[in-house]
Amino acid sequence: MGERRRSWAEPYKIKMVEPIRMTTREAREAAIQEAGYNSFLLRSEDVYIDLLTDSGTSAMSDRQWGKLMVGDEAYAGARSFYRLVDAVHDIYGYEELIPTHQGRGAEHILSQLLISEGDFVPGNMYFTTTRYHQEAAGGTFVDVIVDEAHDPTSLFPWKGNVDLDKLKALVDEVGADRIPYISVETNVNMAGGQPMSMANLRATHEYCSSVGIPVMLDATRALENAFFIQQGEEGYADRPIAEILREICSYSEGATVSSKKDNLVNIGGFLAVRDEDLARRARAMLVAFEGLHTYGGMAGRDMEALAEGIREMVDTDDHVRARVGQVQYLGGKLIDAGIPIIRPVGGHGVFLDAAAILPHIPQDEFPAAALTAALYVDSGVRGMERGIVSAGRDRATGDHHRPKLELVRLTIPRRVYTQAHMDVTAESVIEVFEHRDQVGGLRFTYEPDELRFFQARFEPV
Ligand code: F0G
Repeated sequence: MGERRRSWAEPYKIKMVEPIRMTTREAREAAIQEAGYNSFLLRSEDVYIDLLTDSGTSAMSDRQWGKLMVGDEAYAGARSFYRLVDAVHDIYGYEELIPTHQGRGAEHILSQLLISEGDFVPGNMYFTTTRYHQEAAGGTFVDVIVDEAHDPTSLFPWKGNVDLDKLKALVDEVGADRIPYISVETNVNMAGGQPMSMANLRATHEYCSSVGIPVMLDATRALENAFFIQQGEEGYADRPIAEILREICSYSEGATVSSKKDNLVNIGGFLAVRDEDLARRARAMLVAFEGLHTYGGMAGRDMEALAEGIREMVDTDDHVRARVGQVQYLGGKLIDAGIPIIRPVGGHGVFLDAAAILPHIPQDEFPAAALTAALYVDSGVRGMERGIVSAGRDRATGDHHRPKLELVRLTIPRRVYTQAHMDVTAESVIEVFEHRDQVGGLRFTYEPDELRFFQARFEPV
């Protein structure tokens, strides 16, 4: 156990590099204007350190690259599909696998199969695509996360927890038969990569079973959640990550996964369930929207690399320790410098509290989007707005959803950047913070109807 006290240094060395470009401030000012002040619309060539997302941006291992060569591209019954089935079964514990092109493909199928017009779908905070598919299927999302999750200053360690009182109140109000399932996200992305405790997940599953509501996990970042449980929950310190992950999944009837995160691949995802009948119905939809049931949305080689990534992520505990360790390192630097960020620091990124950093910008002038643009101009570091723009509009009233959290996400890709890149990022955030009075608000010049954050354009107020 002696090694545990050492630094989080990476359990790998670098075999191949991809050059990135350091640009001038003048070039970045032109680029952000061209991009309508939306970091999603920047060309990656104009970005120095890309912290837009940890999704599909991981570096694969030499073993994964090797697997690409042995992919079986048969239309039906490919060997690579069965390798993936085995990997998901061995590591996550689900029997039935429906492979999709990425996470939202799985969300689409699950939502269409289970949600009817007028249903309610409780969840521990929303995720953009997840809620989109729930609403598109006729459901209404109801947030049942604990209040601490909406408070950037709360140091509660389990901000991902389901508030069982809120859930029970919903069941009492609308009845369990109007609730097709509860959508439980591990390491809640929009809350700042915040974990739920095993005790809370167990209790949620116990209650839901008693009233006949299935628990469907969004297990996209379940590995990172398992790490927080190992570090902080009583009784788990000596349990291997692989075991903890299996236990998490044991408290669910199924899961949607975007494999572009924990699973260390650049594309792919899946729906996994235990119920054979549900799986049969999912496969019927899969062939219409994704592809045949033995490849869904993926090439054979992608399924090979994914099967390997799933095994690699839990092969030893060192991978996740270094992954989250790097995130904690950046967060720690910013905390030491007095920058308002979401605490505790989460698993996949550091979330700047734009409302606290830019109190002079009203929420309707998009403080998080403005801060994201300012950070890019300062250093070429690309973050992502996770505030009012991402929250979108209420379908019924047409007004903005007004989230309590107005954040800039600095998301760390897995196995990609070095400690020095984290240092540069921290230096830039501190620089922008010191000149924050010079950052002004934004207004829309183009606002898409759906998932507006991806393609919206702005200009300075
Ligand atoms: N669920 C969660 C919790 C996610 O973070 C994402 C994607 C999805 C589902 C959808 O998966 O992208 O493979 O279709 N999150 C990315 C992000 C986009 O940047 O956080 P997908």
